[in-house]
Amino acid sequence: MIVIPGTSSQILGLKIADRIGAKVIPITFKEHPDGEIYVRIEDGVDGDHVVIVQSTCSPQNRNLLELLFLVDAAKDMGPSKVTAVVPYLAYARQDKRFKKGEAINIKTVSNLLEKVGVDEIYTVDIHSKKAIEQFRIPLVDLSAMPLIGKLLRDMGVENPLIVAPDDGAIHLAEKVVSSIGGEFVSFDKFRDRDTGEITMKGKAMPVRGREVAIVDDIISTGGTMAKAIEMIKSQGAKRIFAACTHPLLIGNARFRILKAGAELIIGTDSIPSDVSCISVADLIAEALKGK
Ligand code: R5P
Repeated sequence: MIVIPGTSSQILGLKIADRIGAKVIPITFKEHPDGEIYVRIEDGVDGDHVVIVQSTCSPQNRNLLELLFLVDAAKDMGPSKVTAVVPYLAYARQDKRFKKGEAINIKTVSNLLEKVGVDEIYTVDIHSKKAIEQFRIPLVDLSAMPLIGKLLRDMGVENPLIVAPDDGAIHLAEKVVSSIGGEFVSFDKFRDRDTGEITMKGKAMPVRGREVAIVDDIISTGGTMAKAIEMIKSQGAKRIFAACTHPLLIGNARFRILKAGAELIIGTDSIPSDVSCISVADLIAEALKGK
């Protein structure tokens, strides 16, 4: 296998290559004065299986286009197969047409990846099953939730209550519970699609004096987490952890979450950030080796 790390996942790409013992081919990346981007794969791939690692975190459009260019360039070199490792897959939240006239963005992304010749995709905690259904090429959806569970255990968090801030996060909470035991509860969340405003239905939760971890796939503006933290805090939780796979952390998200009362924000290196204390490198490397 040959690993080609794109600009958004340089360190993760190197770690994955190290874990699977693969050769790494660097790329040249330039941005032209007019904003167009240029990529070049610096060595041939000699009929090998090529693994391109490129998260489509912010700036999503540029990172996505870079991924498409890299796949297309690699394909022209005659590899045996091209695997795209896209730890954070952008546009998966637009997994259906919420309003007439909208595009199903993840379907467009899927079509583009298929068109340039991606043979298979590996991602981590994709937003929804509906998003997976938009892919015709094989897509392997790995989960970082057991790693979040392990970190909580290693930090000495005892008998935590795992909270899913909305219905879509229930399967994530279930995975954390399967790895460390305990129980989970969920909130009912509604987001106004025009204003982005979040309403969360309160539930009495068994949180008094407990350690609580709220788990989600994405922290973007931090609104969901902040709302959930405020509600849990008001019910007397001892310590609250805000954990996610993809720490997009837009604007003052960190501030909102910590001000609401979280002890710590936990994320993975699917998106490199100052809260990315968990690496998904082993998870991805093991899955690639299992092929
Ligand atoms: C949405 O359903 C996702 O799972 C996350 O809950 C959402 O993207 C978080 O966004 P924000 O941090 O802006 O509330």
